[in-house]
Amino acid sequence: LRPEPASGKILLLANPRGFCAGVQRAIAAVEDALSLHGAPVYVRRHIVHNQRVVDRLKALGAIFVSELAEVPPGAVTILSAHGVPQSVLREGRERGLRTLDTTCPLVARVHAHVLDQYHAGRHVLLIGHQGHPEIIGTLGQVPPGAISVVGSPADVDGLRLADNIAVAYAVQTTFAVHEAATIIAAIKERFRDVSVPRATDICYATSNRQEAIEGLAARAGHVIVVGDPLSSNARRLVDVSLAAGCRDAQLVPDPESLDGSRLAGVDVVALTAAASAPGEAVDAVVDRLRALGYMPEEVAGRIEAASFKPVSMTPIEEISLDA
Ligand code: F3S
Repeated sequence: LRPEPASGKILLLANPRGFCAGVQRAIAAVEDALSLHGAPVYVRRHIVHNQRVVDRLKALGAIFVSELAEVPPGAVTILSAHGVPQSVLREGRERGLRTLDTTCPLVARVHAHVLDQYHAGRHVLLIGHQGHPEIIGTLGQVPPGAISVVGSPADVDGLRLADNIAVAYAVQTTFAVHEAATIIAAIKERFRDVSVPRATDICYATSNRQEAIEGLAARAGHVIVVGDPLSSNARRLVDVSLAAGCRDAQLVPDPESLDGSRLAGVDVVALTAAASAPGEAVDAVVDRLRALGYMPEEVAGRIEAASFKPVSMTPIEEISLDA
């Protein structure tokens, strides 16, 4: 594709965008395991919600499985950044797997909060998207029935719980900030005894990316979110853009998926990228837009300094290789 002549068309690049510290740590864990132990290493489910990342790790020698039962005993096995139920960790120990648990520390913080509230005798209302791996992992920290998942104020109204029981709430780390606020308001309105978490569960990467694109979406005629359709935080960036007043927004995993016809007559496009979208995918989409005549312009935003310690393997003395 050849660039069109100078057209006055602008591509506003939101900051921050793309990889977060938790995703970088999880991908590094797979790469490090491959270089330390050699191929294959096994990965349970998508390490992060991005097919491009998964395909690259497959090419390096990672084998992706749905369940630990598919992994040979003793093999190096990596668990995804979304977190897993306690039953999966137990199964890994029982099968003698050498596991690397890449659960993001910010997801692990939600697990710890939920467990505390359960021990304090409170029923937990988990604000999130039913069926998402992070929600499945959080539900699996406590016995069945201890948590109810709510995804909207209507879900809160529909809960079959007495209004006078003690409740606490927790939020999926990648939930939309404004949407969570309306659900929390509904919880406080319905229940008399609500324990409020000390810190927000929605992670810094989610809220920073939502805040950055929200500021640009109102100025843009179209928003492009680089990310995988499976990624919750990517889909929320589309929702936030539309809620901020942008007429149209599309989620594109790669430049080939970009629907150029939706940009007809649009002079200002804003672009962001999900926390699981790799830089090369973002660059390729920017190149495609440049070829369509849009001049990229970085828009200053919050500086992120978060970094997490590398993942360490389950200590060998905790592993029973007889299993
Ligand atoms: Fe962790 Fe938030 Fe990224 S929970 S994996 S820092 S999107």
